[in-house]
Amino acid sequence: MSDLLTLGIETSCDETAAAVLQGDRQLLGHVILSQDVHRLYGGVVPEIASRAHLRTLDDVVRGALAEAGISLPQITMIGVTAGPGLIGALLVGLAWAKGAAWALGTPLVGVHHMEAHLFATQLDHPDAAPPFVALLVSGGHTMLLWVPAWGEYHLLGKTRDDAAGEAFDKAAKLLGLPYPGGPAIQRAAEDGDPRRHPLPRPLLTRAQRPGDRDYYDFSYSGLKTALRTRVGEVQQRQDLEGEVPHLAAAFQAAAVDVLATKTMRAVGQTGCRRVVLGGGVANSRALRSALAERLGETGALYAPSARLSTDNAAMIARAAVFRFGRGETAGLQLNARADLPFPGLRV
Ligand code: KG4
Ligand code: ZN
Repeated sequence: MSDLLTLGIETSCDETAAAVLQGDRQLLGHVILSQDVHRLYGGVVPEIASRAHLRTLDDVVRGALAEAGISLPQITMIGVTAGPGLIGALLVGLAWAKGAAWALGTPLVGVHHMEAHLFATQLDHPDAAPPFVALLVSGGHTMLLWVPAWGEYHLLGKTRDDAAGEAFDKAAKLLGLPYPGGPAIQRAAEDGDPRRHPLPRPLLTRAQRPGDRDYYDFSYSGLKTALRTRVGEVQQRQDLEGEVPHLAAAFQAAAVDVLATKTMRAVGQTGCRRVVLGGGVANSRALRSALAERLGETGALYAPSARLSTDNAAMIARAAVFRFGRGETAGLQLNARADLPFPGLRV
């Protein structure tokens, strides 16, 4: 396994990424090209994303190979995101990977994007291996999982409406802050008092128990509406600008409180005090410190570095190595699926 040189390809959304991984740990090359063009529209435009992947993927792969100091024929396996994601965007990466695997005669492995997020953190922290409770929070997903072993995933909770990152993005838009919203809200919140505009914590009734409908699930629509109402009230009285830091701090505190509380419920129920974060929202300093504080010294929080928390191809290569180890290679009939089921997921 340590001789494997895996080329990972990721094009499921608005990052064009390629990486070269040696064995299951040594990251030799790593390139992520973020498509800034979507900022103009306040969100990802699928057709623009596909075209941008098509234009840049060749160069991104070349960049990753150059960083690794190897040439394409030295690659011994190719791992590619097969879903979930934007179908047109996925197909660009998949077609590239299939063509390369066929030309080089290497095995091809189709990877589930969210399973890959689970593996990302381990590239930074070798100890971030099961068993653990995982909180995957990105622009497209919010999942709370119990992971007793790689390949064995128990879904405890998920979002009923917007994903956590999407909620940050929409909240930022309401406050006149730029996209992506999470980092902008974090910056604005530094100067804010979260208690000035108290916001609700959706689906967080303190008396809940395991088995109750709302115990682990998330919902952001109520929080978003509460923020919109509050913004409207402020605008009636004064300029919104001066209140933006306080509103940003209140939103961040509410969103983080729900995420941290539900994660700690999973820690309580499983008895496992090891938590792995994944996805773009894992960058949130407020989320990390809330969880680190609640886990205390008897627990461990593993959060990926910024370059491995957002969409990247290193995690795709790492997940491909795991699936390859189980003999799960794909043929050239491999297809992309926007709603690819999570492998090994029990609900
Ligand atoms: O994983 P990711 O890069 O892309 C998706 O697969 O969606 O996640 C991007 C999301 C965006 O919604 C962004 O607002 C959010 O992650 N994000 C944050 C922070 N940094 C990025 N949310 C809250 N706090 C942050 N510091
Ligand atoms: Zn992602």
